[in-house]
Amino acid sequence: MTNKEIKIAFEDYTSIDELNNDDKALCLEAVKALDGSHSPYSKFRVGCALRLQSGKILHASNQENVAYPSGLCAERVALFHWGANHSDDPILSMAVTAHTDNFPLLKPVTSCGGCLQVMAEFEQKQGKPIEVLLYCQKGEVWKAKGIQSFLPFMFFENRLQ
Ligand code: THU
Repeated sequence: MTNKEIKIAFEDYTSIDELNNDDKALCLEAVKALDGSHSPYSKFRVGCALRLQSGKILHASNQENVAYPSGLCAERVALFHWGANHSDDPILSMAVTAHTDNFPLLKPVTSCGGCLQVMAEFEQKQGKPIEVLLYCQKGEVWKAKGIQSFLPFMFFENRLQ
């Protein structure tokens, strides 16, 4: 038996003002996207913005439903919209932020496993890394250079062959 370790890397910015202009702007687009959230059940709004290679910005937010499992996270709303409409225009970066009136969010919200798996597949499909910015409006921003940083044991279609 050997013990093995995997290290993941991400950048920790103490404030949005430390980011480059494009990344800062994308975080602010994610804040705008919060307005579209349909989250009457959790009261937890999540906003997501994608910057495409063409410069186009896509906005998305979490969409809940009274039949709870029918809802979808902001990240997957964004990614499936991209997949359906813009997949010839690679995603360069994705910013995610969240807000609730119920308690202060003091750390960035990290994407769920299902969203990471979908990000991983589209990253592989487009053949370019997707940078991820997790933006806490009251604090830090965590930036990863690709999905592998958050999902080192991702499942790829080549495992089915
Ligand atoms: N949610 C997201 O939109 N993204 C995540 O990465 C985690 C959770 C949503 C799902 C649900 O509408 C609400 O946040 C509470 O879980």
